[in-house]
Amino acid sequence: MPARLFLSSGDLVADRRYEFARDLWLKGDLVAAADLLQQAIELAPGFVSAWFTLGEVSEQLGERDAAIAAFRQAREADGNDPHGASLRLMRLGAEEVSAMPKAYVRVLFDQYAPRFESALIDDLGYRGPALLFKAVLAARCAVKKPAFFRHAIDLGCGTGLAAAAFAREVDRFIGIDLSPRMIEKARETGLYAELEANDMLEGLRTKPDASADLILAADAMVYVADLVPVLKEANRVLAAGGVLAFTLETYAGDGVVIGDGLRYAHGAVYVRTSLQAAKLELSQLEELSARNEDHVPVPGLVVVAAKV
Ligand SMILES: C[S@@+](CC[C@H](N)C(=O)[O-])C[C@H]1O[C@@H](n2cnc3c(N)ncnc32)[C@H](O)[C@@H]1O
Repeated sequence: MPARLFLSSGDLVADRRYEFARDLWLKGDLVAAADLLQQAIELAPGFVSAWFTLGEVSEQLGERDAAIAAFRQAREADGNDPHGASLRLMRLGAEEVSAMPKAYVRVLFDQYAPRFESALIDDLGYRGPALLFKAVLAARCAVKKPAFFRHAIDLGCGTGLAAAAFAREVDRFIGIDLSPRMIEKARETGLYAELEANDMLEGLRTKPDASADLILAADAMVYVADLVPVLKEANRVLAAGGVLAFTLETYAGDGVVIGDGLRYAHGAVYVRTSLQAAKLELSQLEELSARNEDHVPVPGLVVVAAKV
């Protein structure tokens, strides 16, 4: 995973205490680490990285209430929540599942970009684009239509792995991703006619009606809690007969939860209901895993839907 985000408090002594606390934490002395973090916070009460780390240390100490209080303070210290304190609060069950902070996603993937592909493909056995490719071919074959697309949009395009998988079947790709560093990597591939550093929903909103015949999202909807707004917008942007294909992580329930890996898992019932709400026709929903964690496949779904 990428390096930790550190945001200086602006107070040299508080920053040093933070660094020392991190060393103690890494050495396993959680109590001393928490103590030093509290000292750092006394010196700099708005020290967001110290609050967030105190939340993590408290969680490891089994002090749930203290962890919740610290994560809330971290979010209060910086409302953009670049550390993703709200995700920790959701995972602790202290708050309802809600949208992921955009600043957190941007920072996470900006830091991740230089070694994203090796980490994902070599370490996690990532296979999202290949699964989508196979699923889209099968769905087109089932309706006896060619699997060739003139205008495609790649939501959460990252470094361009999905566009690479579909390169021979697509004339023109637009890529949208929150992380400018991932966009830089995607640009280097030369696979995209247009690239946009933007939220996928906001990016889709700027596209004309019926302007795409394929929309992909490989391992990107796992960062979106409520799928309905994106699915509705995708329906508007797709031409009649156009295809939407995406991967998800899933779980046995029928709603949306935040998993241990801090990504959302969407239940199959939730996915079907959301597609119906967006008036998209489900072509395929298969239980297939796009990546491993600790060498075990993460339960996943591959979804293909069509605009009728
Ligand atoms: C795990 S990567 C997958 C990248 C690529 N699709 C692939 O298959 O390799 C997830 C990507 O989704 C992007 N992302 C997450 N949430 C997003 C959002 N709301 N809007 C746009 N991009 C988003 C991240 O910045 C990241 O680059």
